Amino acid sequence: MSARIIDGKATAERLRGGLAARIATLGFHPGLRVVRVGDDPASGVYVRNKDRAAAAAGFDSATIHLPADIRESDLLMLVADLNIDPTVDGILVQLPLPPQIRPNMVIAAIDPAKDVDGFHPLNAGRLASGQPGLVPCTPKGVMHLLRDTHGGGATPLAGARAVVLGRSQIFGRPMLQLLLAADCTVTVVHSRSRDLAGECRRADILIAAVGRAGLVRGDWIAEGATVIDVGINRGADGKLVGDVAFAEALPRAGAITPVPGGVGPMTIACLLENTLEAALARRGVATG
Ligand code: GUN
Repeated sequence: MSARIIDGKATAERLRGGLAARIATLGFHPGLRVVRVGDDPASGVYVRNKDRAAAAAGFDSATIHLPADIRESDLLMLVADLNIDPTVDGILVQLPLPPQIRPNMVIAAIDPAKDVDGFHPLNAGRLASGQPGLVPCTPKGVMHLLRDTHGGGATPLAGARAVVLGRSQIFGRPMLQLLLAADCTVTVVHSRSRDLAGECRRADILIAAVGRAGLVRGDWIAEGATVIDVGINRGADGKLVGDVAFAEALPRAGAITPVPGGVGPMTIACLLENTLEAALARRGVATG
């Protein structure tokens, strides 16, 4: 048997189409500002893709590009300006930041109502305590894909054994919270865990987000499991590869996300979804 390929690109296009249709009825263009500091080439690609997708869906989107040697205090002042700008609904400061800037200081300075990355401690706390708030884009995108894959007559998410590889603030931890909220039984494994392969083999849903090309081998995957690959790594030949050895996983998994074209496009779509949610919430419009 060969796994069903989970088409994140198509799902993201549908999601963006729905957002564009909603925005066309609003009478205003939700404002997104993406802040890029320095010239990290990968960040350049991500930021351009975000800007392009936002503009196409009807957002008022702009990138603010700052020099790599900017002082932390100057970046904090810019964030303060964006916080009080009524035309701005969403603020995203692209990570990583140069070493003179403490990311936690910058994240904490963003108005939680405009924190479309969902990284502010207030939004992280809301997520952990089951309250509504802005949710980090990549794990939110993964939940969309899982609901599609495990909806209808398929194995339900409730009660499924989910294993998350990686415990980062921006992915692993919020992913854990979202899976718990969906009634999964969740295990988070990380660089200090014993028997990674054994833990993975117990998963109905295996989510890899460690940033190590091909770490997850075919025999780590239970027959029929859903495999979500969050890794974006450059292979020796310069091509993008995930954390999962894709060719080995295909005959074992029930469904799997490719890299590229799986989780990546969903992250951008969910950033736009968050920006629309923030715009509506700031105007007192309830969202579902
Ligand atoms: N760098 C890599 N992923 C992300 C993300 O989701 N948000 C931000 N702000 N920076 C990132």
